[in-house]
Amino acid sequence: MPIAIVTGASKGIGRSTVCMLKDKGFTVIAISRSTPDIGDVKLSVDVIDRETVAKVVEDTVSRFGRIDVLVNNAGFGVYGKFTDTPLQEEEYMIKTNFLAPIVITKLVLPYMLKQKEGSIVNVVSEAAYVSTTTLAVYSATKAGLSSFTNSLWATVSKLGIKVSGVYPGPVKTNFTSHPSFSSMAQNGFDKFAVEPEAVAKAIWKGITTGKREIYVPSKLRVDPYFLKLSLIMQDFTYRIIRRYF
Ligand SMILES: NC(=O)c1ccc[n+]([C@@H]2O[C@H](COP(=O)([O-])OP(=O)(O)OC[C@H]3O[C@@H](n4cnc5c(N)ncnc54)[C@H](OP(=O)(O)O)[C@@H]3O)[C@@H](O)[C@H]2O)c1
Repeated sequence: MPIAIVTGASKGIGRSTVCMLKDKGFTVIAISRSTPDIGDVKLSVDVIDRETVAKVVEDTVSRFGRIDVLVNNAGFGVYGKFTDTPLQEEEYMIKTNFLAPIVITKLVLPYMLKQKEGSIVNVVSEAAYVSTTTLAVYSATKAGLSSFTNSLWATVSKLGIKVSGVYPGPVKTNFTSHPSFSSMAQNGFDKFAVEPEAVAKAIWKGITTGKREIYVPSKLRVDPYFLKLSLIMQDFTYRIIRRYF
């Protein structure tokens, strides 16, 4: 049986991913701060706790002999104007969304390299490309994770390891239950939100194909191009301004 580690497994996208992997015959090590209700090994672990995470990886390898899939999914957002959001919360978010996937990948990758196979999927976000005024630091954590994912993809995909970044837009999960979201108008979010199962499906695509970027829904893949185009236009405009005005 193939072995998978999924972080953020108690709710939302992570929980749907565990269900999907179980259906596909995986043995799943499910991790979140509150004990997940599904998975073969259900662990209450904070992903920022390096020593405990290292022990989880060691225990998994000594019990099952290998790790086939790592899904770095645990994460949360702090919503609000940058001047109003507490730095302490943001530090915790940076550690959870950005640092923890790096730490866990560093622990798991050597085993995958030894096996000469494995898949790592990082759950990024459309926010990596589209930084809104109310999710400044969240967007930055996801932009960092995106950059890390791309670099990892370029480095290890030729060594048999599949690496993929999954970029969802709004998803119907507990994501907006963080207290800071109480001031957010739900209309836009609810209108465009997809089910977590759609993201789990994209994660499966990442696991099986190692496609560098997968957007959910797929039409969001134009976002980076619009952004690049707007930056080129800005650059062009400022060059003219500097020269003639
Ligand atoms: N929902 C969206 O609109 C959306 C859009 C784009 C990207 N995403 C990304 O998708 C991922 C999953 O979020 P979701 O939408 O499924 O939200 P969710 O329903 O709130 O689930 C988040 C999961 O992460 C776990 N988690 C959070 N902090 C953790 C920590 N420090 N250590 C261990 N587990 C932790 C939570 O469990 P515990 O609270 O029990 O720890 C929960 O299982 C996140 O990375 C998020 O940034 C979400």
